[in-house]
Amino acid sequence: MVTVDKSIAKEAEQLQKELTRHNYRYHLLDDPDISDAQYDRMMNRLLAIEDEYPSLSTPDSPTKRVGSSPLEIFETASHSVPMLSLDNGFQESDILDFHNRISKLLNTDDLVYTVEPKLDGVAVELRYENGLLVLATTRGDGMIGEVITENVKTIRSVPLSLFRENDADLPPLLEVRGEVMIHRSDFALLNRHRLEMDLPLFANPRNAAAGSLRQLDSRVTAKRPLGMFVYGTGLVDGLAYESHSELFHLLKRFGFPVNPLIREKLSMEEVIARYRELETQRNDLPYEIDGMVIKVDRLSFQQQLGIKKRSPRWAIAYKFPAVEETTTIRDIIVQVGRTGTITPVALLEPVTVGGVTVSRATLHNGDEIAKKDIRIGDTALVVRAGDVIPKVVKVMASQRNGSERSFSMPEACPVCSGKVKRIPGEAALKCINASCPAQLKQRLIHFVSKGGFDIDGLGRKLVEKLVEQGIVMSFADVFSLEKKRLASLEGLADKSAENIVAAVETSKKISLARFLFSLGIDHTGESAATLLADKFQTLENIRGAAAGEIEKIDGIGPKTAAAVQAFFASADNSRVLDQILN
Ligand code: IVH
Repeated sequence: MVTVDKSIAKEAEQLQKELTRHNYRYHLLDDPDISDAQYDRMMNRLLAIEDEYPSLSTPDSPTKRVGSSPLEIFETASHSVPMLSLDNGFQESDILDFHNRISKLLNTDDLVYTVEPKLDGVAVELRYENGLLVLATTRGDGMIGEVITENVKTIRSVPLSLFRENDADLPPLLEVRGEVMIHRSDFALLNRHRLEMDLPLFANPRNAAAGSLRQLDSRVTAKRPLGMFVYGTGLVDGLAYESHSELFHLLKRFGFPVNPLIREKLSMEEVIARYRELETQRNDLPYEIDGMVIKVDRLSFQQQLGIKKRSPRWAIAYKFPAVEETTTIRDIIVQVGRTGTITPVALLEPVTVGGVTVSRATLHNGDEIAKKDIRIGDTALVVRAGDVIPKVVKVMASQRNGSERSFSMPEACPVCSGKVKRIPGEAALKCINASCPAQLKQRLIHFVSKGGFDIDGLGRKLVEKLVEQGIVMSFADVFSLEKKRLASLEGLADKSAENIVAAVETSKKISLARFLFSLGIDHTGESAATLLADKFQTLENIRGAAAGEIEKIDGIGPKTAAAVQAFFASADNSRVLDQILN
């Protein structure tokens, strides 16, 4: 056994304590008091010490957040108390019925509720023995779940051990339940990264959270920005409380992430008002919620009401309107994108999905249509997840009446009638005519968009008009737009024309990353463009870079590298670049 120097042991303990505190300030209070670099330095030092003296690596050391060696399989564990589901209500009357029903059962008109957002994530249970996180499980079938302890330990907002004033406050056993989720922006970032690395995309944030939790290698989970909010308990020993709201205060004191949108002790009238409020906030929240959970606050009432087979009698989920609907596919058209990709799009019988009217959905490509056997006239299940483009999940083949028509991808570009080609190894069909007006329009729209030159007033409609009238035929033409020519366009006032010319002028000062993004190179989104700019610093350096050199950048895959190299190698593109630079 390696003997440990006392001063080293002390240093490790100090670092563990400090890092735990910083972690809490950063992830729960949102109020860090040291820099990320300082945190990293302390973490690296602690990792080095624990590596040399494994006996100092306590089970709740913050180093456990980086993940450990992969498992062969997930073990399973039974829940001490079954993990139930909730009854659903969709209308106000469902909720009033719930209220009347339980008021009668309890023979009281003194009922108050605690209400919480219903997070659309993954349910997990955390077991703390004498204050230490010893087990984390998925809900599984409600009786038995999968053991995902190492993965859950990587979630920064989950305490590895309970905070307490003194050891006397520690409950010998505490099982806490909650929902693990991923923020919409992190989900978008994760998918963008996966797209660039040519990996399959996650359909929605919930799938991304579930996929990240079910990793045999916890080091992969550690890289996924998972969050959690707790909402209840399993088996508890040594903790006394009389209401659900009181429980939340206790859990918060132990260091658990408790959703700040929870409202306590509301009357039924206030519950209904809170639902309306949450519904309007819903799309602005950083994470997805699919409703509000209403729980009887007083524990003695909960116990009196008890549970049914699969759900408690004392709680109900008041769901928001679905983000999934069925509708009819009226037609299928194809669109030509910026890089010539031909995308089939379903034109739908307009339908409200999650409060927004949807009349189109992407069908991705011909293979997807064939795989899902999508036909014109079919009844389709359409989903809309946050700000993601609506898509057709599947069609209901059983509802066909024989009038449905199959669809095949065109053999020529629907816009320029030029040749279309299938890129080897890809599902996409492409128009290979570089001067196809459809492509030019899309490339220009991308060129002047927010992530690129960001030219105010030069929107999609105006760009289309400028191309159609032959005023803009290339990127460089944007920079020689004249006020007189613009003002002669129908519907464009003198003042607007002047503003656009001024915006063009200011846009000329642009960072290398945005410039690269604006060019619309295949597989090169904002994050890849930033990586390229950081590495190469100047446009000249990138123009001369070999694919092998580009691929060495962490986060850039072979496809992006090849596309970047090919873009700058093309004589046509070189000419266009020189024109822009002029
Ligand atoms: S309470 C006995 N509260 O919804 C009550 N559940 O349909 C059990 N969920 O599996 C659940 N947010 O994963 C509760 N604030 C919340 C919730 C919540 C999301 C999920 C949970 C559960 C499902 C029940």
